[in-house]
Amino acid sequence: MSTVDQIVVEVTAIQQVAPMIKAFTLKPLKGELTPFSAGAHVVVEMGEEQKHRNAYSLMSDPNDSREYQIAVRLQEASRGGSIFMHEQVAVGDQLKISPPANLFAPAWRAKKHVLFAGGVGITPFLSYVPVMQQRQAEFELHYLYRSQQTGAYRTELMEELGERCHCYDADEGKRCDIATVMADQPLGTHFYICGPASLIETVQATADQLGIPASAIHWEEFAGAKPGQPFKVELSRTGVELVVAADSSLLEVLEEADIEIPNLCRAGVCGQCVCDVTEGDVEHRDNYLSDAEKQSGKQMMPCVSRAAGGRLVLDI
Ligand code: FES
Repeated sequence: MSTVDQIVVEVTAIQQVAPMIKAFTLKPLKGELTPFSAGAHVVVEMGEEQKHRNAYSLMSDPNDSREYQIAVRLQEASRGGSIFMHEQVAVGDQLKISPPANLFAPAWRAKKHVLFAGGVGITPFLSYVPVMQQRQAEFELHYLYRSQQTGAYRTELMEELGERCHCYDADEGKRCDIATVMADQPLGTHFYICGPASLIETVQATADQLGIPASAIHWEEFAGAKPGQPFKVELSRTGVELVVAADSSLLEVLEEADIEIPNLCRAGVCGQCVCDVTEGDVEHRDNYLSDAEKQSGKQMMPCVSRAAGGRLVLDI
């Protein structure tokens, strides 16, 4: 995302939709917003002095480009982005967002769609539902949450989807038997997971055991950059030296220095932000590079990965 692409929006409503989740309605200052497809996200820029940019799924109806809606779960151990959204942003404020991008679109060729949402991972599926209903696609939703923290929109979803919506409140001791759900599906079913890494790993492992091809499994993890040790980075083409603080990502620091790095997911999955490394050891935290590429240490994804030592030199 370059700064010229950014869209300025106004926050027109903020709603507490679960104990730890707030929903934000964003409207353009004039005209309409860019249309988007089910599963798309935007990157929201937060803060003045120390900027954070986090990706959030658009959860409004893709057919409605008058406004966007996103939801933010308060993450106590976050680098500050979710705390900023929860504590600093008020109705009437303006925010800068990227145009929508989609790394989690439904595979429309599937015979059936089974959606697994964990906590705030419900958000991309809120944009799936109206489109799937419109297309009369066969689908079912399995929604896992803790009602003392998350579980947003469960009442509305249960009312709207009836027996296609299965809710599992861990705070009431309800568990989803993922293996049984997956084993019971017709051939040609695709599975979608959005939520914590543990949920994604469970569905992937179950698919392996059941012989479901990896091409039928689609996932989006709600994990942007996580904090780590501070380190220095030198840009070999200009000799510029930058410091990456414990709660900043390398990508954010490069952007602050006006170095444009392509990026879509900011979560180590799309591969857009890849940078060549000429010196230093990398702590790889992405899901994009292969194990061999990680071991070679020649490339890294600055949106999530960091220096394993105190210093890196990048070919920029
Ligand atoms: S922005 Fe997608 S991998 Fe870095």
